[in-house]
Amino acid sequence: MRRADLDRVIAIDATVTGQEKRPYWLRVYRRYGVASAGEQRHFLVALRGKDVVGFLIGEVRDWEFGSPPCGWVFAIDVAPEARQAGTGSLLLAALIAAFRRAGVRKLRTLLSRDNTVILSFFRSQGMMAGPLIPLEMDLDPPAAAAPKAAR
Ligand SMILES: CC(C)(COP(=O)(O)OP(=O)(O)OC[C@H]1O[C@@H](n2cnc3c(N)ncnc32)[C@H](O)[C@@H]1OP(=O)(O)O)[C@@H](O)C(=O)NCCC(=O)NCCS
Repeated sequence: MRRADLDRVIAIDATVTGQEKRPYWLRVYRRYGVASAGEQRHFLVALRGKDVVGFLIGEVRDWEFGSPPCGWVFAIDVAPEARQAGTGSLLLAALIAAFRRAGVRKLRTLLSRDNTVILSFFRSQGMMAGPLIPLEMDLDPPAAAAPKAAR
């Protein structure tokens, strides 16, 4: 990933998610795309000729969620016109190679249960349901339930 690739990454993400999020991507680039990211953080792009046709972001997280160092895939997107030609597989293989070099032996990701394409993709790469379960809750209290201050 180079700074010059960022506009194309933003455009690919916008076609997939329907939202252009430039400030977010600038933050991601500063965190994952610069040389100081070292062995732990990876922001990879796939090139067809000189054109960026896909990207992947991954990171090694040490001892989080009670686990030994583990490699996470945070995002993977391939431009619609470049899909089903092995690009996603190549991106993931490059990340796995980097994780292996860093001594990591486990790969994890999270995905939306409605996203059958990404589920099929990760299953095709050998990933299975893992031992962790995601939990969440809404933090905004319903207006009617907001407590009044006592006098
Ligand atoms: C998932 C994605 C990255 C796959 O990229 P890709 O370059 O098309 O993947 P590959 O060509 O390497 O495909 C590898 C395997 O994945 C599976 N796969 C890929 N696309 C698929 C589809 N549309 N339906 C079902 N399985 C699919 C197949 O098993 C395929 O192997 P095969 O070609 O031998 O059948 C791409 O479709 C994409 O960017 N989708 C949107 C991603 C997204 O929603 N991101 C948000 C969450 S991070």
